[in-house]
Amino acid sequence: MSTKGVTIWLTGLPSAGKTTLAHLLGNKIRERGIAGIEILDGDVIRMNLCKDLGFSQEDRMTNIRRIAFVSQLLTRHGVIVIVAAISPYRESRDHARKEIKNFVEVFVKCPIEVLIERDVKGLYKKALAGNLPHFTGVSDPYEEPLNPEILIETNRETPDASTAKILGVLEKLGYLEMRKTSL
Ligand code: ADX
Repeated sequence: MSTKGVTIWLTGLPSAGKTTLAHLLGNKIRERGIAGIEILDGDVIRMNLCKDLGFSQEDRMTNIRRIAFVSQLLTRHGVIVIVAAISPYRESRDHARKEIKNFVEVFVKCPIEVLIERDVKGLYKKALAGNLPHFTGVSDPYEEPLNPEILIETNRETPDASTAKILGVLEKLGYLEMRKTSL
């Protein structure tokens, strides 16, 4: 089945659930018989395409510009691209939206207190102790999306419910065929 390309851009604080959702979503879309899916995860991209970059505002913006560039190339060839990157600056996300066109912004939201509690990677602890400068949410800014297509609240929804919500919006926007039940 041929698909219309789209980039689903997951933005949010570190450990909010972007990577988990990206993979769940990718699997659900694959189950529908669509093979043209690519996940661009900030952590992975920073090990190759953006290995030279740190976490200054300039470097983060360069990181997002590169991810947006690749997303745009893939999207225009019918690939469903799922980006999971903090992408803390509104300006960068708006740039990506403009470049890519078929763009669905998903704000993966979770209160910082819950993230500090979760602290999957131990980075919040490090940042709160003053040992990790420029850590998003603690010692570096995160500009919340003002009008995301989708709002996910990972402290209130199960990962499966969040995935179903995204699938539903993709159907409604015409990027996926309608299904009665998504899960
Ligand atoms: S972004 O701001 O440029 O979009 P990106 O999503 O690529 O960030 O990378 C974030 C990942 O880098 C986090 O998941 C975390 O594991 C790691 N990381 C290391 N240092 C920092 C930091 N200072 N701020 C945020 N994330 C950091």
